[in-house]
Amino acid sequence: MSGMRHLRVPSEATARWRDRLLGEGWLATGVGIQADGDYRLVPLTDDAPDEGSPWYEGHATVKRSSLERGPQHWRERLEDAFVEQFGPLLPTAHEVQGDVLLVKLEPEVEPYEQTIAQAMLDQFPHVRIICADGGVVGEFRVRDLRVLLSRDGNLSTVTSVKEHGVAYTLDPSTAYFSARLSGERQAVMDLIEAHRARLGRRLVVHDPYAGVGPNLGLPLARGEVETAVVGDLNSAAIPYLRENLQHIISKGAHPDARLIVREGDGRSWAEDRTLLAQADVLFVNLPHEGLDHVHRLLPLLSSDALMIGWAVVDRHQETEVSERLASIFSTAGRACEVSVQATKGFSTTRTMVRLVVRTTTGS
Ligand SMILES: C[S@@+](CC[C@H](N)C(=O)[O-])C[C@H]1O[C@@H](n2cnc3c(N)ncnc32)[C@H](O)[C@@H]1O
Repeated sequence: MSGMRHLRVPSEATARWRDRLLGEGWLATGVGIQADGDYRLVPLTDDAPDEGSPWYEGHATVKRSSLERGPQHWRERLEDAFVEQFGPLLPTAHEVQGDVLLVKLEPEVEPYEQTIAQAMLDQFPHVRIICADGGVVGEFRVRDLRVLLSRDGNLSTVTSVKEHGVAYTLDPSTAYFSARLSGERQAVMDLIEAHRARLGRRLVVHDPYAGVGPNLGLPLARGEVETAVVGDLNSAAIPYLRENLQHIISKGAHPDARLIVREGDGRSWAEDRTLLAQADVLFVNLPHEGLDHVHRLLPLLSSDALMIGWAVVDRHQETEVSERLASIFSTAGRACEVSVQATKGFSTTRTMVRLVVRTTTGS
């Protein structure tokens, strides 16, 4: 029988055998591991021992046609001469939101953007549309997007993103969203669960800078929230925010949770008397200027509340930020415990910090 030799191993032992073979230089590269019922067929090089060798510990070798894996990277779909000329200028990263791929392009390769976009479409079968990403602009932090190529002619950038099992419909060209913060959303969920357990009841959560709603998705889905008051200054975010969260509530653990959606400036929330001293949890997700908003938002907090926020600050400024927050709270006559933790590098000089302030009754 023709074909390539493969070692037949139980599927749960695949990783061990792949690593062992790799270590000996006997793993064939450029071809894939194949399924065979409860077994896996790991491709062997010509140098690998013959059938029956004790090294295989009794596992059989079989001949099968090899599974071509295709290019491992979209760059491999470009002509060699092109890669040679523009290699260092080609994008090294991209972001995928649902079926929309966002990529930052150096000006030098813009004349070849169609070639690059086509290579990416060919590489990623689940992507529908490729957009050049000019970065976030303006106070709404919306991306400056330019559609490069669409698989099916549909030029809409509206898409659906699934995060931690929760779906959000959004349009990255009109309202802010970043998949890079998904780890933060999980961390926040843990804080919220602990706070709910401490208070012994479902929570009132305020999110004045909510975008399309990702801070509240998990807490609503898990039934931690009794009332969610959410809003944004960007009117384009509002329909997505409302529909996403309403949908999550209807499918979640507490379909009776209340949703209130407000369009406008977060700083004006405290002018609404119905919102004062209500929030068990307050999100302040405005990383570039949120610290300047905090004093305007404090009247929203209940007596035992969590404020959870993010800020982009100079590296190693955790102590300064912590002191600044403590002073804002104490000026307002609120006792609190502050924690400021770096989450990830933002640039070489700036970093993103997560701020968690727990108000205490002051005694
Ligand atoms: C960094 S984004 C966070 C959005 C969302 N929480 C998320 O994680 O995807 C900040 C949001 O605040 C909104 N925004 C900016 N200034 C605002 C203001 N003064 N009042 C209310 N929302 C504002 C922007 O439109 C944007 O949607």
